[in-house]
Amino acid sequence: MFAEQNSQPKVLITAGPTQEPLDSVRYLGNRSSGRMGLSLAEESSKRGFQTTLLLGPSTVCPPDPSQIHLLRFRTTEELRILLRDQWPNHDLLLMAAAVSDFRPVQQSQTGKIRRSEQGLRLDLEPTPDLLASLGELTRPDQTVIGFALEAGESLISNARKKLESKHLDAIIANPLQTLDSETVQATLLLRDGTSLNPEGEISKQRFASWLFDQIEHIRSQSPGG
Ligand code: CTP
Repeated sequence: MFAEQNSQPKVLITAGPTQEPLDSVRYLGNRSSGRMGLSLAEESSKRGFQTTLLLGPSTVCPPDPSQIHLLRFRTTEELRILLRDQWPNHDLLLMAAAVSDFRPVQQSQTGKIRRSEQGLRLDLEPTPDLLASLGELTRPDQTVIGFALEAGESLISNARKKLESKHLDAIIANPLQTLDSETVQATLLLRDGTSLNPEGEISKQRFASWLFDQIEHIRSQSPGG
C-alpha cells in the first residue's frame, strides 16, 4: 500500500468546511465541524506518523500543534493549491474536508452587497473535484481515501460510485447526520468490494483509531508488506 512498506507513512489529512466568499462579509459554507479530520490527525500523530493537517475555517484546532504540521485554507481554490504542493511529499491522503461543490461566479470581494427589495439571485459555478483531479498527481505507491456524505438508503451504492469515479483506494461512507456530530456510524469500502464497519455509533476519536488499524492491516496484507 505504501512505497516502502516497512517505513512509517507520511499522512496528509484535510478537514473542515470551505467558505466561498460572496462579498467581503458573506460566504457560501457548510456545517462541517472539522472534528473527523482533526481526530484522524491526532491518531496519526499518536502512532508516530509524520502528519500534515490541511484545516479549513473551523473552530477546532490540534491541542498540540508542535506534533502536527498545520496549514490553513478557506476556499476550495486555496485547498487545491495546498493539496497540489503537499501531496507529492506524502504517502496517504485522508480527504475528510467538506469541499463546496459550487462557488459564486462573481465575487464582490471589496464591498458588501446592498439590501434590495428586488431580492438577489446568485450565479454559482461548479468547483473542481479536487479528489478526482488528484489522480494525475498520484503515484502508484500512494494511497488515497475519500469520504462520502450521503443520505439514506443509497449511502453505500453512491459511496461505491464515488470510490470508482474518483479512482480512490477506499472510501468512508457517512450518513448526513455525521456532519457536525460528535459521533459517527461509518462504513469503510475497499476497491475489492469488501465493506468494513466499526461496532455501532462511536466517537470520532474511536473511529479514527479503528480506521488506522484497518489501514495498517491492509498495508501489512499488501505485497511486500
Ligand atoms: N470532494 C472534492 N472536491 C469537491 C467535492 C468533494 O475533493 N469539489 C471530495 C470530498 O472531500 C470527499 C469526496 O470528494 O472526500 C466526496 O465528497 P461528497 O461531498 O460526498 O461528494 P461529491 O463528490 O461532492 O458529490 P455530491 O455532493 O453530488 O454527493
